[in-house]
Amino acid sequence: MYFDWIEGEIVAKRPLENGKQEFYIHYIDYNKRLDEWVSDDQLDVNKIKLPQTKNSRPVSPTAMLNKVSRKRKIEDTNGYSSSHSANSDTDDSPTIVPPIVPAGPPSTGSLSQNQNTYDGLTRIKNVQQIEMGKARMTPWYFSPYPQELCNLPVIYICEFCLKYLKSSNCLKRHKLKCKLYHPPGNEIYRKNNISVFEIDGRKNKNYAQNLCLLAKLFLDHKTLYYDTDPFLFYVMTEYDQFGLHMVGYFSKEKESSEDYNVACILTLPCHQKKGYGRLLIEFSYLLSQVEGKLGSPEKPLSDLGLLSYRSYWSNAVLEALIQYLDSPTESPPSLTILELCDRLCMKKEDVISTLQHLNLIHYYKGQYIICLSNEIIDQHRKSMFRRKVRIDEKYLQWQPKDWSKRGKW
Ligand code: ACO
Ligand code: ZN
Repeated sequence: MYFDWIEGEIVAKRPLENGKQEFYIHYIDYNKRLDEWVSDDQLDVNKIKLPQTKNSRPVSPTAMLNKVSRKRKIEDTNGYSSSHSANSDTDDSPTIVPPIVPAGPPSTGSLSQNQNTYDGLTRIKNVQQIEMGKARMTPWYFSPYPQELCNLPVIYICEFCLKYLKSSNCLKRHKLKCKLYHPPGNEIYRKNNISVFEIDGRKNKNYAQNLCLLAKLFLDHKTLYYDTDPFLFYVMTEYDQFGLHMVGYFSKEKESSEDYNVACILTLPCHQKKGYGRLLIEFSYLLSQVEGKLGSPEKPLSDLGLLSYRSYWSNAVLEALIQYLDSPTESPPSLTILELCDRLCMKKEDVISTLQHLNLIHYYKGQYIICLSNEIIDQHRKSMFRRKVRIDEKYLQWQPKDWSKRGKW
């Protein structure tokens, strides 16, 4: 096993029954899903640094923003593993740290409005585990489930209506009443065992709010909206004899001034790294194609979001270039970036960043050209060979709605 000292920030502390205390640690430059409670004997308190103030901003007397080092193996719950040593201290802004674990924000209202007030508490994971269908999952981030449920070892979630319950008995009783065996809304896509349901955040408010609560457990950087009216939710399911089980979803604004085609995207951790994220992304671009728009995901992207989009964009751009080269319309072949955008329904900045990432843009005789090597074509073919399941536009049954023409969503 590999050990290293990792620099961390004390976000909160809480007393233990044995008179000692525990500290909630955020590891500097690591994703917050690795944050955890540790005991003081796991910390190297000799290296504590006091908070530094920027622009002589006052530090609250309760702000115990200490930097400590802790000996541990950093291993992501998601399977991401990293062993790099402690990084330099970059975060020097003072933070208000609750002296003990807070009770949690109100169970109603929008987190976006309360973001500042609850900044301290929303940094701390509050749900221990969730059970949903056959899977138990350990949350990555804070989500404002009711406080009484957060004190329990497990929250039970009905996998079809997403209602949260405090015990498996309550869930059993709920299942006798809940007749759903698929998400609500319209099934707009089905091919083999994969379906996608479109759910209107206004018409199915309860479901949409429960979905946001669930998603927030695994999404850090996006604000949770209790006001789900302006959003549509596209839930992807996998079919078996017991029903259509959610594997992931993305949300999308009914009207987006920036032409975002995805607001938030999530694959449930128990289904991650099996290609569903990519299918969801592919589906989001199919909707943009039917709408006749160029789309892009809402920023900022998370680390895993960026990895998935990079992978999708790279494949999509290479596929379009190779298809074009197989039957060019001009000689010598000439395809502009804007034509690529139209073919892929991708925004120009995403196409350009992908071409740069793949190192395909070169400057030749006074102009920019796209160069494809045989090596990159081979790599692409191999990578596409692995992707057995693709979205098939023939199976989409969907008409876009013009939401601007409707008085209220
Ligand atoms: N480590 C390394 N690479 C990864 C990982 C990982 N943990 N997870 C996915 N990838 C890569 C895969 O290798 C794959 O690339 P490849 O096919 O070229 O090998 C690509 O990302 C897509 O993999 P999928 O299996 O299709 O993706 P998955 O179903 O795991 O879903 C997602 C990806 C949705 C980002 C998932 O990780 C997730 O839900 N994360 C938590 C929520 C989140 O961060 N969402 C994105 C926020 S940004 C936004 O909402 C617009
Ligand atoms: Zn239910």
